[in-house]
Amino acid sequence: MTLLHDSGTRAKLFTVRSALWSLSKAGDPGARLMSLQPGESPYPVYAAVRARGELVRSKLGVHLTGSHPLCQEALRDPRFGVAPISELTRIDFDRHAGGRRRYVQPVDDSFLSLNPPEHTRLRKLVAPWFTPRALRARTELVERTVARELDELARRPRFDAVTDFAVRVAISTITGLLGVRTVDHDRFVWWGMTLAGTLNGVRTMGEVRETRAVLGELEAFFDELIAHRRRHPGDDVVSRLVECEADGRPLERKDLLATAQLLFVAGFETMVNLVANAIVTLLDGNGGNGDGDDGGNGGGGNTVRHRLAADPQLAEDVVEEVLRLDSPVQYVARVAREPVELGGHRLRPGSTVVLLLGAANRDPSVFAEPDRFDPGRPNSREHLAFSAGAHFCLGAGLARLQATTMLRELFRRFPALASAGPVTRRPSRNIRGVIHLPVAVRAPSRSEPAA
Ligand code: HEM
Repeated sequence: MTLLHDSGTRAKLFTVRSALWSLSKAGDPGARLMSLQPGESPYPVYAAVRARGELVRSKLGVHLTGSHPLCQEALRDPRFGVAPISELTRIDFDRHAGGRRRYVQPVDDSFLSLNPPEHTRLRKLVAPWFTPRALRARTELVERTVARELDELARRPRFDAVTDFAVRVAISTITGLLGVRTVDHDRFVWWGMTLAGTLNGVRTMGEVRETRAVLGELEAFFDELIAHRRRHPGDDVVSRLVECEADGRPLERKDLLATAQLLFVAGFETMVNLVANAIVTLLDGNGGNGDGDDGGNGGGGNTVRHRLAADPQLAEDVVEEVLRLDSPVQYVARVAREPVELGGHRLRPGSTVVLLLGAANRDPSVFAEPDRFDPGRPNSREHLAFSAGAHFCLGAGLARLQATTMLRELFRRFPALASAGPVTRRPSRNIRGVIHLPVAVRAPSRSEPAA
């Protein structure tokens, strides 16, 4: 049975890879996007999409748009529902599950993938944890966490700004919110990385197996946490979910698990990438990796980091501008639920549109000199990094709070922070970020090698 499933999956993966390869060679914009290599900048592809028009059809069977007004229109229009990125590149873990039972999935089974009214019913349950009031109550805790991690790092001449700093703060915050008892950073990072990778469309049998393994571990972990919180409720999201009813009905196990898992995964994966993208931009304005991939930001980061060290209030503007210039979530998809017109095109029900948020955030019709890193630009908050409409990121306020605190305090503590080695970019097309970012707490002297 497993072998049969495996050979079906293998065949599907082969078809996907071959189709992407040949369509990409033929210049298809969707295939070109789905074929980006790890670390390759997406921005030239977006420019090519934009050059072809506001709404472009791909032979993958989807439309693409990098237009800010069109992305915004589709995100806010209830005639569009949520959609998987692309049916063609998607592996259905239900069918390709090796003949065993299906695990709950944080993206596909949660309210992120539901339309109203089910979406509204579930989102409402956790929304109270993300109100401005709830965030104000959490501010001190975030500040203490950041200070504690920086105290540790101050003992070391070098550290990894991703694994030793951003990951630790983000995981500590989200696990505190969820009421997780034991924190295993390495394991959580592996879960987050693997699941974020599935948003690209899985390509190899190794990825299929790894994803299944992670889904199994994640489900067991949250089953155990839910059982614990039933017996020992605390002041946390999982305890609240356990006791609550949605519209007079008790929450089903699948909804409870998927909601907790969604918050967990969404709560640190993108968060870490935002902070990492910001540090990379600030350190030398050249992507920090010597490959010239600064996303064309004009090398302004180095000047800004000195201003930031002198004026910590600038951190908010830096966070907003990095969200715009180098968005952690590069695209989302929507499907027309009824006939609808977008950008002068008539879309039939079932038509999928890939909304290139990373491109919309550099749309020259909205942002002047869009490739330039310019914290404090007048309309920087008009970016779509947190999406828009019904699915606007629930954690946007918490993300802003954490990122601002981390950057402000990092550069206040270590004003001479410097790059200390090559940056390892995330091998992902949709989630843009960094896995490793070595830094030194002072600039290396002439006699000291940089790495
Ligand atoms: C820099 C950090 C973050 C970025 C860039 C980001 C981005 C996004 C985006 C683009 C969406 C919408 C997807 C769509 O429209 O299909 C989203 C949804 C969501 N995000 Fe975030 N996010 C971040 C941080 C967080 C944090 C810290 C949390 C929670 C602790 C969180 C929780 C959620 C949830 C629950 C949703 C689903 C909302 C819904 O479907 O109604 N996010 N996020």
